[in-house]
Amino acid sequence: MTTLIINIKELVQIREAGITKVSGAAMAVLPTVKNAYLILEDNLIADFGSMDNLPKTNADQTIDATGKMILPAWCDSHTHIVYAGNREQEFVDRINGLSYEEIANRGGGILNSAKKLNDATEEEIYMQSKERLEEVMRLGTGAVEIKSGYGLTIEGELKMLRVIKQLAKNYPLAIKATFLGAHAIPAAYKDDRKGYIDILINKMLPEISKDNLAEYVDVFCETGYFTVEETEQIMNAGIQFGLKPKIHVNQFNSIGGVQAGIKYNALSVDHLEVMTTSDIEALKNTDTMPVALPSCSYFLSIPYTPAREMIAAGLPLALATDYNPGSTPSGNMNFVVATACIKMKMTPEEAINAATINGAYAMGLSDTHGSITAGKKANLIITKPIHSYYQLPYAFGSNLIDTVIIEGKVIA
Ligand code: NIG
Ligand code: FE
Repeated sequence: MTTLIINIKELVQIREAGITKVSGAAMAVLPTVKNAYLILEDNLIADFGSMDNLPKTNADQTIDATGKMILPAWCDSHTHIVYAGNREQEFVDRINGLSYEEIANRGGGILNSAKKLNDATEEEIYMQSKERLEEVMRLGTGAVEIKSGYGLTIEGELKMLRVIKQLAKNYPLAIKATFLGAHAIPAAYKDDRKGYIDILINKMLPEISKDNLAEYVDVFCETGYFTVEETEQIMNAGIQFGLKPKIHVNQFNSIGGVQAGIKYNALSVDHLEVMTTSDIEALKNTDTMPVALPSCSYFLSIPYTPAREMIAAGLPLALATDYNPGSTPSGNMNFVVATACIKMKMTPEEAINAATINGAYAMGLSDTHGSITAGKKANLIITKPIHSYYQLPYAFGSNLIDTVIIEGKVIA
């Protein structure tokens, strides 16, 4: 099936094949074609260019995009979309003065979600998670990474990963699964952290690898969660089972997690709200993508990742939502892009690069996702009529998306 889209006001983020990420000063450049056409063959981008050079094609379907812009669909490389219930009470407790840390120390936080998850059936978790996935697709997300980490028991973790696998089977978008058994020490192992890590490494990892349930391994490397030493031990074990690390670091404290991630060639290091000069130095000339999660900073009122310093140091940066019940109950990448511009002083060009090509890199998808490139997946956002792509972050509360296309199919 051939779809021809004509009269596109501006086709945004066009890249040659082989460009996998953009770094430093190059992040300020967002290549576009004005007054463009785009041809889709089945689920792939076949061709594009200026309307002046529109080729003759026998299209099965023609879409007139007069006044509208087209971008690649968002690539959300860090989420915890699969969870049970909500943490609305903790939200109100924080409004009334408790901190995220105080709530966690009282047995709330991740352990609260773990209890809900273990009490829910696989079917219930699937039904709740699919609603969230459908919502983020409507908001323009065309590829997503989803973590486990609210089970913290063998059965709970496997249940979460099976739900992720089921979602990947039933929906057209690319879904990458990450094993985050090291999200918190479960209550039952409060006084036996070694015992839990032993189960994670010797029971959970073999099961996951046997059933091919995850591609990445994650650890929450943070004071009060997992130490740098434990993080290294778990990354190393994950690697033995063929899982590449992608880890939570520097959310509240800089304790050496960035350097540990680099040492184990992590695909990404995520959060980075608290970054020292040596953390930034360490990331230079590595293959590890730094990932910022500004809607988490917004929701918890914690610092934003210092994007300006990182980009000035020549680093790449990706943006993701962190969609989860505790620190970021939102999967809206449009809000993430706007917040990165408004609060992190990223330019619209930098933020769009961070949310597309660099996001694709941070989940190992930059050969197929994240840009308008012949041969890549036909994953597109068609905007409503807008003046320029600046309007996307500028009008931060408006829904400026007209149509989302994932793998060549229009999402209702
Ligand atoms: O990325 N920081 C660790 N994990 C999640 C939040 C977990 C929760 O509060 O449920 C995050 O912010
Ligand atoms: Fe997270």
